[in-house]
Amino acid sequence: MEEFIKVSGSATSVEEAILTRHSVREYENKEIDQEIWTELLNLTLRAPSWKNSQPWKLRIVQGKSKDKMANALVEAAKSNPPSPETNWPESYPAYAKKRMFDLGMKIYGVAGIDRKDKAARDQFMLNNFKFFDAPAAVFITTDFDLNYYVGIDMGCLLQNLMLSARHLGLGTCPQAALGAFPEVVRKELNLPPEEKVICGLSIGYPKNESNLNQFHTPREPKENLVQFFN
Ligand SMILES: Cc1cc2nc3c(=O)[nH]c(=O)nc-3n(C[C@H](O)[C@H](O)[C@H](O)COP(=O)(O)O)c2cc1C
Repeated sequence: MEEFIKVSGSATSVEEAILTRHSVREYENKEIDQEIWTELLNLTLRAPSWKNSQPWKLRIVQGKSKDKMANALVEAAKSNPPSPETNWPESYPAYAKKRMFDLGMKIYGVAGIDRKDKAARDQFMLNNFKFFDAPAAVFITTDFDLNYYVGIDMGCLLQNLMLSARHLGLGTCPQAALGAFPEVVRKELNLPPEEKVICGLSIGYPKNESNLNQFHTPREPKENLVQFFN
């Protein structure tokens, strides 16, 4: 099976959507039409969840609301450490650290950033909070108590959202970073105190002529990850 390297156009099968989905970090300056949102959300919300509890709420920002949110998040990120409501992992197995290091090297490489240049890396990191200039961002929130299965449910939702977006010709970038400053998001979206910010996702039409978008991450061979017991 050939691996697709494609950044624009619509995926016409589940296989194509899976193989061509990747994190998009440069977007065209083009809004998403309401009919596309409707189709995207109809597909996304078919995600499975623990006992069909559907713990998610989706808060979509675009236009002026998106710009206002981006400004507030960038300001927060410039002067505060992240304070997520979800538990961000603190340690990893050595082999996972290597994968993460390799990812950083590759991203900074295509972005033309010297890994030792902390100021440039910090500046690049701020692009997360500007939604990589995407026309819209989706914040995923919940008023459920956070537990492992709510996390799994959210993962199912996110994957549905990302693959459905590919089907509709949209690119996405899922971002833990967008859950780094939940108080800012809560204030901008006027969320009730019990609603927690899980993460966010930038979404829009991918820029084709973009080094960052041509960059595709590798995967571990299945022999290293999967074992059959017959
Ligand atoms: C839960 C989650 C959180 C992520 N957070 C970020 C983030 O904050 N910023 C970012 O640029 N990418 C983020 N990513 C994207 C990953 O880096 C990316 O999915 C991974 O490197 C694999 O690359 P691909 O999505 O292009 O296949 C996140 C992905 C997931 C699933």
